[in-house]
Amino acid sequence: MTRSIKNNLLSRSIALTVLTSAQVFAGSLPSPVIDSDYYDNGDPAPAKYELGRMLFFDKIMSGNRNISCATCHNPLLATTDGLSLGIGEGGRFIGPYRTTGSGDDAVPGRIGRHAPHLYNLGAREFIHLNWQGIMEGNADKPSEISIPAGPEKPDGLDNVLAGQALFPIANINEMIGQRGENEIADSVRPGNGRFRPIWEGYLKRIRAIPEYVELFQAAYPNISLPDDIKIAHYANAIAAFETRAFRADNSRFDQYLRGGVDALSPKEVEGMNLFYGAAGCDSCHSGKFQTDHSFHNIAMPQIGPGPEARMPLEDRGRTEASREQSDFAKFKTPSLRNVAHTAPYGHSGAFATLEGVVRHHLNALESLDNYDTSQALMPSRSDLDEIDFQGYEDVSLRDKIAQNNELRPNPLSDAEVSALIAFLHTLTDTDSLNLRKLIPSQVPSGIAVSD
Ligand code: HEC
Ligand code: HEC
Repeated sequence: MTRSIKNNLLSRSIALTVLTSAQVFAGSLPSPVIDSDYYDNGDPAPAKYELGRMLFFDKIMSGNRNISCATCHNPLLATTDGLSLGIGEGGRFIGPYRTTGSGDDAVPGRIGRHAPHLYNLGAREFIHLNWQGIMEGNADKPSEISIPAGPEKPDGLDNVLAGQALFPIANINEMIGQRGENEIADSVRPGNGRFRPIWEGYLKRIRAIPEYVELFQAAYPNISLPDDIKIAHYANAIAAFETRAFRADNSRFDQYLRGGVDALSPKEVEGMNLFYGAAGCDSCHSGKFQTDHSFHNIAMPQIGPGPEARMPLEDRGRTEASREQSDFAKFKTPSLRNVAHTAPYGHSGAFATLEGVVRHHLNALESLDNYDTSQALMPSRSDLDEIDFQGYEDVSLRDKIAQNNELRPNPLSDAEVSALIAFLHTLTDTDSLNLRKLIPSQVPSGIAVSD
């Protein structure tokens, strides 16, 4: 513990002695978030950030030029898509208005997992990305990463967040489109590599746009010719953008941790006491961002087609990355920053409300059995609707999930649940929700940013 944090805690405990008993906190709290928790101290070079901003919003980074990162991680929807399970390329419109497209262009299926929010992923401690943690980083040596690209892994990636950015653009249903629809979808041939031809396809488009070449040159002094632009430059710029744009560490809880004892009401302090005390939430939602960066099975209902859209419609979770059967249906503990605004919740977006997902934790097995499927938010289309709840209704799959559940019943009164939820609301950083300012009016490809 550094001296300044110690002093901070000391001054807080002195201040607390004059408060009412409901406001006194007995357990141990995380230390406050600081700049050096983030890559580049949270302040990446402006030219790299600006390039990343354009690439994040530019639909040229999709096979059919119809979807960008911002479609599913929308700045107006707290960096999510507001849906339980989203719709990838081919869909139209954003958030709850999103459709599955129509005619020949209609999407072949739903995305198998819920699109998570992107808050604070530029903090070094986020070493596992995606719900099953298939992308792995190293908090001390950020450039040492493991990503599922095999020998095609590019050199020079800054960190795991950059590594992650290589994959949505190379996913058929998320961003590429189907064979026969565009040159990128058609570029994958046996013996040609699984990723490189795709990445090269995007680079070819980018290198042909003078405004992009200038932005890459400004961000990376070693780029002089269009051919010097590599996929790692793209990925590192996206990560720089995400690091700064989606930093969220000025909530009332942060202010409290930095010594602002008045930042929380007595009810919120009671909720904080429960979270870090009797309710045991911090045994998994620990640390500065309310996550242990580990994987747990909490008997979440499985809805939708699952990530591989094949029978059985199960999501094996961490098993996919670790190959250990004991990791079945374990998912990454989500960070709870801005959680009041990032609904729906869970790896398949099964719960529509914050209270719903919190109550699920209190009696997970009972909740799994009594899950109300009508709360799932998915753009409707009859052939997709047919399979949405087959996984959930498969009793043997449900039993398999339940067997591995780690949560014991945790009886809390309604007043306690209400206090916990009040505390979760204090994790909202209002400025980080107001992201309209990030949306460019134009991007270098000239493709419309809005739908
Ligand atoms: C079609 C919707 C869609 C698009 C487009 C999309 N994403 Fe995602 N994103 C998701 C889903 C779903 C996941 C969870 C995947 C999983 O766990 O298997 C995810 C996961 C992530 C994560 C990991 C978050 C975490 O907490 O583990 C990051 C970072 C991310 N996306 C960034 C991006 C970037 C950058 C782009 C553009 C290059 C992008 N996404 C495009 C839906 C999308
Ligand atoms: C055993 C570890 C564990 C404990 C204890 C735990 N959680 Fe969770 N929590 C998780 C995991 C893992 C998920 C995601 C599971 C999934 O999607 O399958 C989650 C999801 C959540 C979500 C949804 C977040 C999102 O973005 O989808 C909220 C809210 C939440 N937990 C709050 C709490 C509260 C409040 C407590 C204390 C009452 C608590 N959790 C206790 C592991 C835990």
